[in-house]
Amino acid sequence: MHAKTQSHHPFATNNICLIGLMGSGKSTLGPPLAERLGYHFVDLDAEISRSMGSSVRDIFEQLGEDKFRAEERKQLRSYCQMEKQVIACGGGVVVTTDNLECLRRQVTIYLSATPETLAQRIGTGKERPLLKGAVSVAQRLATILKEREPLYHDCARITLHTEGRDPRSLIDELIPLLPQEILIRKQ
Ligand code: S3P
Repeated sequence: MHAKTQSHHPFATNNICLIGLMGSGKSTLGPPLAERLGYHFVDLDAEISRSMGSSVRDIFEQLGEDKFRAEERKQLRSYCQMEKQVIACGGGVVVTTDNLECLRRQVTIYLSATPETLAQRIGTGKERPLLKGAVSVAQRLATILKEREPLYHDCARITLHTEGRDPRSLIDELIPLLPQEILIRKQ
């Protein structure tokens, strides 16, 4: 058994939020999952970039992390008010305290992996502001994971361990764990 589920208070929506550190597979798993459910896929980082007219890296460098987090909060709220969205959140979505409340009301799925695996998937991580200047990407990720893992678990209804798994097998494992609110498109 790879996945872990925990009960939460009833869902206000039928949206799915994918959370986890960079490299956990949110953007890889999101589109095929949305396709399988007949949902709309949204990449929150891409929406933030589009709305602020700049890359995530440039937003961090030129405007600072606080401005990025404020827009992230706004975009999360706006998509969570819609229906049937698969939302790939940035890894730091959980650092804004009131996002946790919002995520608890969605069907939130934590994609977990070890820092070593995440580092392998990410490579140099040149585009990722939080990895800037890291001597060891795995070590930097281990530090961030230590701070965030309790927050991921706090708001996730389902935890999927992604080590050595391909997207298809993860989706096959996930579908039967989804609550009834998620209406699966007939194949
Ligand atoms: C961040 C993760 C990034 C992006 C930004 C901050 C974080 O998203 O939102 O660079 O704080 O972990 P991904 O997790 O999609 O890489």
